Amino acid sequence: MVTMKRPKEFISEEKINETVDRIASEINKDYEGKDIRVICILKGSIYFATELTKRLKSNVTLDFMQVSSYGNGTTPGDLVIKQDLDRDIKGLDCIVVEDIIDTGKTMHVLKEELNKREPNSLKVCAFLDKPSRREVELKADYIGLEIPDEFVVGFGMDYAEHYRNLPYIGVLHNDNE
Ligand code: IMP
Ligand code: MG
Repeated sequence: MVTMKRPKEFISEEKINETVDRIASEINKDYEGKDIRVICILKGSIYFATELTKRLKSNVTLDFMQVSSYGNGTTPGDLVIKQDLDRDIKGLDCIVVEDIIDTGKTMHVLKEELNKREPNSLKVCAFLDKPSRREVELKADYIGLEIPDEFVVGFGMDYAEHYRNLPYIGVLHNDNE
């Protein structure tokens, strides 16, 4: 058995739920009467995308994509698509759902790629945002919470694939802290 450190609670389950409620009502207001294609970015956003879409009143269709970006320094770099969308998004109103925006590189190049596919509209929704870490221009349309420069896990986010299933968001700390 692998012994893992227990992360210190940073954002409670209750606060997560309140925040998802708030984002969902913003989207419900903006998309009244419209269909939405939700693009869930694997793996980190599965928990957020699930909670969020349950609260949306529109006719929602879900698709999934797994990506990363390789850039050095402040260049966004190239997008590496590990798993692409199943369906075309041409002419659709799309919302990309992401767990966290850090340097902004992944979302910057992903938006460029998705815009080439000519959706009717494309918005970005991120549960967490670390604006102090930004290296490229990127602003999400819907943001749950802004956080300082801390490495967080839980509610889908991982450290070496661990901790994704924590119901709260935690910060990893040293044993002697
Ligand atoms: P970016 O390209 O630097 O904005 O990073 C995007 C991705 O890095 C996010 O979608 C996460 O998957 C991962 N990431 C960034 N910060 C954290 C963190 O604090 N915890 C877990 N994953 C993170
Ligand atoms: Mg991610």
